[in-house]
Amino acid sequence: MKKFWLSRWTKVLLFSLCLIPFLNLLWRVYRNDLTANPIEFITHRTGDWTIRFLLITLAITPLRGILNQPQLIRFRRMLGLFAFFYGCLHFTTWIGLDKNFDTQEMWEDVIKRRFITAGMTGLLLMTPLAVTSTAGWVRRLGYRRWQMLHRLIYLSALAGVVHYYWLVKSDTRLPLMYGGILAALLLYRLATGLVSARKSVPARRPLRPPADARG
Ligand code: HEM
Repeated sequence: MKKFWLSRWTKVLLFSLCLIPFLNLLWRVYRNDLTANPIEFITHRTGDWTIRFLLITLAITPLRGILNQPQLIRFRRMLGLFAFFYGCLHFTTWIGLDKNFDTQEMWEDVIKRRFITAGMTGLLLMTPLAVTSTAGWVRRLGYRRWQMLHRLIYLSALAGVVHYYWLVKSDTRLPLMYGGILAALLLYRLATGLVSARKSVPARRPLRPPADARG
């Protein structure tokens, strides 16, 4: 199993899988198969994949422990970058197709509609994480500071869940389900953090950047 996770081809396979929602969207654009409301369709698809990739990225650390597969860390950076990629597509759809690059209208939306404010917060919080996801940035910031900064992903996912909860009109089941998953992931992190803090002799920090930042 270890050999499988460490293979270069596993990364290629995962990368291809992560591209499927995007390729499917392109295919539907090409076939002109975007329902009666194409803008809404694209916005919803890209929004769905943004929140899913955020949660999948956050699930990597618990899965490493639960499945006893530490090598899974290799995929965390790629998954996080895909969350950002789909978030950017989602945002670009809103700017270009929904708002027609009308900055005045966009600004009013950000201020007046609370679900847009929450969405913007989520995307803005993701941006420094995407920029600093490389090994060079881990070295520049130092591992501890880098790790602290990257905990912002929890806030970004929370903003995404709130954004979704605020925008749905009646059926809140899906945003609540995403919120429940996020809460479970956060609780797991807090619980394992507490256990290891109790066990630990003076904390030792790794000298090398984490495997996922090494690409
Ligand atoms: C962390 C960042 C974000 C996440 C996770 C996210 C997620 C989502 C999700 C899950 C949906 C609903 C999809 C569905 O109903 O199937 C959605 C809809 C939407 N999002 Fe986002 N979003 C984010 C950021 C943004 C930003 C930055 C904007 C624009 C400034 C935005 C604008 C919208 C709009 C206009 C809708 C459709 C609302 C409607 O149907 O009335 N989102 N988003």
